Order: sequence, then C-alpha cells, then structure tokens
Amino acid sequence: MKIKSDEEIEHMTKGGHILKIILDNLKNETKIGVTELELDNVARELCKRYKVIPAFLKYKGYPNSLCISVNDTVVHGIPSSYKIANSDVVSLDFGIIYKGLYLDSATSFQVGDKNDSITQFLAIVKKSMLSGLKAARDGVRVGDISYAMESVVDQSKYGIVKELTGHGIGYRLHEDPFIPGYGNKKEGMLIKKGMTLAIESMINFGSDEVIMLSDGWTIKTKDHSISGHFEHTILVTDSNPKILTI
Ligand code: MF3
Ligand code: CO
Repeated sequence: MKIKSDEEIEHMTKGGHILKIILDNLKNETKIGVTELELDNVARELCKRYKVIPAFLKYKGYPNSLCISVNDTVVHGIPSSYKIANSDVVSLDFGIIYKGLYLDSATSFQVGDKNDSITQFLAIVKKSMLSGLKAARDGVRVGDISYAMESVVDQSKYGIVKELTGHGIGYRLHEDPFIPGYGNKKEGMLIKKGMTLAIESMINFGSDEVIMLSDGWTIKTKDHSISGHFEHTILVTDSNPKILTI
C-alpha cells in the first residue's frame, strides 16, 4: 500500500466530498415505492453531474453502479425492479473514481416506520465502523483496528460477518491491507501515516453466517436476519484520521 502524496490527498479529499454528496442524495431518494434500478440511475446521473466515474460499474463484471442491499442482504446487492417498502433496512454502498483515485462509502438506514430494535442495531453497526476508524492511526497494526471494531459489538446478539473486510484504497478499489471487523490487538500489517483505508463494518442482527446467491455477487444472511453496513474512506494521520468521505 502506497503512502499518498499531498496532491493525491487533495484529490481524494475532493473526491470523498463528492461521494458524500452523492450518497446523501441517494439516501434522500430512497423512499417507499422507488425501485432499486431507479436509484442506480440516480447514482449514474449524479456521477455525470459531478464529473466522476462510478467505480463499481463493470468492476470484476459487476453489472451496475450502486450496491443496494435490503434487509437480509448483507452487501453487493444488485439493483433490481424491487420497490422499496415501508420499514425496509436499506444499505447503500457507492464508490467513485476521481482523478484516477477510488473512494468508497456505505450507509444503512430504515425507511419509513422504524423499530427500536433495528435502530439500536444499526447504531452499533455504525459505532463499530467509527470505533475502527478512530483506532486507525500511525504505528498501530491492522489487528488493533479490527479489535476496536469487534469490542463494541455484543456477539451474543449480533453476528460480525467474517468473510468480508475493509481494505486499503487508492489507484485500485481494493488494496492491502485487508481489515476484518474482528481480530486481535498487535497483529497484522503495520498502519502508517499517509495510508488511505476503507473501514467497513458488516454485521448481522442474527448469526454471522452468510451465503452467496448464484448471481455471484449478492451476499445474504443464512438465517435471513437483517444486516447492516457502514463504510468510510479515511486518511491515516498521527492522531484521529481524516474522514475523506464526509
Ligand atoms: N464497497 C464494496 C467493497 O468494498 C465494493 C463493492 S464490489 C463491486 O467491497 F463490485 F460492487 F464494486
Ligand atoms: Co469497500
């Protein structure tokens, strides 16, 4: 993983800000009755408006621009003609390329009428991501970040997905180091100032077990429990990281 130059950091800061605006717009458009494909279209239109490239489109053959994962879909949900319904838990995961550099971010929320148990669950999924993000600073190891993410999750209630991880990010979407949402302190690759990382929490309301559908992308919970996903791209510093996708 490459240490980013001042110029690269400037580009990723600008790109990250654009991604944040696009994701906020998409969240606003995620209303009862809208189809996933309509949201995918909105994502593509917004990329045109901001002159950025949708990063996921054709990535390893991925067919769309947006990943939209509803209810028991954990990640990599392919947009379909499904209409968003009241109380659906929706995860929007979007990435762009700006000046050749990738930015990646995801958020989850419940549409319309909310349940307290889901609100509490999503707050923990977000807290796990933020906890990992705060732990990511010069001189720590990957395991310190993973441990911080794991430590806020009551694993007797919720399942941390083991098969998917956060990752380094830069001129490629996925780079070293890979950052699990669970782990042991002081283990793994050394984290250095100037690295850019996508820190992501993927947690299920029930068991941690997941299955992949025959489309080769969609990951669902095996027990059909709800799943949540939060992700930010950050720049590692000597202290708290700079969140780029904000
Ligand atoms: N944000 C996702 C990740 O980091 C990217 C989705 S994979 C894609 O794994 F193919 F849809 F791009
Ligand atoms: Co990612």
